[in-house]
Amino acid sequence: MSLEKIKVLQGEIEQFNITDKASLEQFRLAYLKREIPALMGEIKNIAPESRKEYGQAVNTLKTLAEEKFFSTQDALDTASAGSQTSGLDFTLPTIPHELGTIHPITLVRNRIVQIFERLGFAQADGPEIEDDWHNFTALNFPPDHPAREMQDTFFLEKNPDIALRTHTSSVQIRYMQAHKPPMRQIMLGRVYRNEAISARAHCFFHQVEGIYIDENVSLLDLKQTLYHFAKEMFGAGTTVRFRPSFFPFTEPSAELDISCGKHNPNGCSLCGGSQNICKGSGWVEIGGCGMIDPNVLENCGIDSEKYTGFAFGMGIERITMLKYQIKDLRLFSENDVRFLRQFATI
Ligand code: PHE
Repeated sequence: MSLEKIKVLQGEIEQFNITDKASLEQFRLAYLKREIPALMGEIKNIAPESRKEYGQAVNTLKTLAEEKFFSTQDALDTASAGSQTSGLDFTLPTIPHELGTIHPITLVRNRIVQIFERLGFAQADGPEIEDDWHNFTALNFPPDHPAREMQDTFFLEKNPDIALRTHTSSVQIRYMQAHKPPMRQIMLGRVYRNEAISARAHCFFHQVEGIYIDENVSLLDLKQTLYHFAKEMFGAGTTVRFRPSFFPFTEPSAELDISCGKHNPNGCSLCGGSQNICKGSGWVEIGGCGMIDPNVLENCGIDSEKYTGFAFGMGIERITMLKYQIKDLRLFSENDVRFLRQFATI
């Protein structure tokens, strides 16, 4: 009986193992060309009352064979295309991209800019290769000042008038020369000193300096500005201390210390409890400051009778070391990812 034959063929079609183009062709000839057309040709010999059932069964068988043929053909084509191009395995999992981290110096630099921008300070920039006038003379350095000597400054051998800037105060000079007060600027950048490299000193580091020049700018403005900065950078409980000091370009001058938290009820936050930074004193130095010497204003064409101003300068490495309890300055320039990765979530 023909319906039985259809059942047998259905089993054969399902079982038929197609592994390559040749067996695919065998399958096509056997079923799509021979067996199924033969079953179709039988329709006219089937009793009329069974014809409908028979016709449907043949059609279902045909669909089954065609589906198997076309899907296997597709799979074989894709496989051979893959091996022809490169033998690449597109199913391999991808190598995840690691996100980089922001360098701690950049993190702190950005925070410094943010704090001073809110106080109305804009940024000024200048060259790292400077002449003697901008780096020293205009800043009131006497001709025999030790900072001018070879052990502190990298001078150009062929032209000792040219040096790598030793501080960003040279940018203050350039800005004062080119602009009229009032001015409120910060200068950030890399500076160079001829020092032996150790955990506490390097031949280059970064500074942030600032100036505020207007009528009636006073020491009080200076103190309040730096006090605000210290609290924003190191936490609301931080206090500042101004220690009388000397810089050729400011008068009066002071070193700026911040409280390291030794006297805070929560303990010494900057030294990490060890007190090895403040040496038990409770204070750590973060920079210098003072009222701009009238000579410096005059050197830059600013009327010192009418205007006064303050200036300050701080080391960004120093602030970063205190903020994150980093003990060795060299870590900042070694590019060791084990160090840098720790700043991923900050
Ligand atoms: N230029 C000084 C330094 O490099 C820092 C400073 C800037 C001090 C401005 C006072 C005022 O050490």
